[in-house]
Amino acid sequence: MRLLALRLWNFRNIAQAQIDPHPSLNIIVGANAQGKTNLLEALYYLSTLRPLRPVREVDLIRWGSPEARLYARYTHNGLSDELHLRLHREGKRMLVLNEQPITRQSGFVGTLPVVCFTAQDLQVVRGEPADRRRFLDSELSLLSHRYLYSLSQYRRALEQRNNLLRAHLEGSATLESLPEWNVQLVKYGARLFQARRKFLDQLNESASEVHQSLTGGKESLSLVYQPGLPIAHCPLPTAPEKEEEWADAFTSALHQVEGEEIRRGTTLVGPHRDDFLILVGGVEARTFASQGQQRTCALSLRLSEVPLLESLRDEPPIVLLDDVFSDLDPHRRARLVAYLQPRTQTFITCTDLGFFEPAVLEQARLFRVHEGQVSTDG
Ligand SMILES: Nc1ncnc2c1ncn2[C@@H]1O[C@H](COP(=O)(O)OP(=O)(O)O)[C@@H](O)[C@H]1O
Ligand SMILES: [Mg+2]
Repeated sequence: MRLLALRLWNFRNIAQAQIDPHPSLNIIVGANAQGKTNLLEALYYLSTLRPLRPVREVDLIRWGSPEARLYARYTHNGLSDELHLRLHREGKRMLVLNEQPITRQSGFVGTLPVVCFTAQDLQVVRGEPADRRRFLDSELSLLSHRYLYSLSQYRRALEQRNNLLRAHLEGSATLESLPEWNVQLVKYGARLFQARRKFLDQLNESASEVHQSLTGGKESLSLVYQPGLPIAHCPLPTAPEKEEEWADAFTSALHQVEGEEIRRGTTLVGPHRDDFLILVGGVEARTFASQGQQRTCALSLRLSEVPLLESLRDEPPIVLLDDVFSDLDPHRRARLVAYLQPRTQTFITCTDLGFFEPAVLEQARLFRVHEGQVSTDG
């Protein structure tokens, strides 16, 4: 995957810009609030059709302009693709790939794969179990339609089951239909358990490899799945690759907590209670790691998408790194660049070129961003 050209018109604070990127390393430099992240977001949006930050799509259009337009030309398994996107304040989004209008989003997403690291990724390491579940869900949904479907079915069953338990607690319903919802919950829940466990095994391997590279072999990263089942009383699958075993474990856990669930009016076990531990050198990163170590962990997790997507699509994705350098010492910064440079086409935003070795700067293309204007030198 290689981006050959990117153009923006009235996207965020960028009135007009033309980017002819370097095949490997691109550095976007500027002071705060000039439009660096906006530039990355243009690429991210073309790839995923989702804003990088949680805003409405019309907020991507430059204030005072009726529409925003994006254009990208890239090679994709040796073929050259051209993508046009138009966002209008009043109208619908228009997407044209190689002169063919795209009407079904599902037929498009994934054709321009990017991997994007933002400060938000730190939440996976520092945040709550819900942050880590969100990470797992978004990674797995990227890889499997079946997962995405199972997730929405599970959420539906969980909501209905919780509604029923609550209504029963308030005296407005009987538990007659509880067994039905248990069947649904276990069916889709077992799929989620199995898929998350399998994915975490893979992630454990690929993220720890990336982590080795970023730390020069000095630190080990490992991930430990913690399924939302009361482990003390409930035998976990001996063959975790089997959905049926997860279904059995889940059924038995539901059985054990049924009385308490009825008393409390909510579902106490299941994948909605999952978590995973992130260990650095055997201790929990969330509590014991330094800021730099936490950032490195978050990076290793995100960058493990690179080999994953590469094996899926036979070529590496484009990597976007937003403000990745703060908290990283010069060794880690240099190793990060050394890891990415030969593998992928990368776009890094930063406020200070002092973060880079002179030799690296010589091999990179530099884009300066000032008040929404993008200029190139070198
Ligand atoms: N739709 C928009 N129209 C015009 N300006 C915008 C729009 N959305 C955001 N901005 C402005 O873009 C500026 C730069 O944003 P950003 O790319 O996040 O800066 P940074 O260079 O620090 O990464 C912000 O100050 C914001 O006010
Ligand atoms: Mg920014």
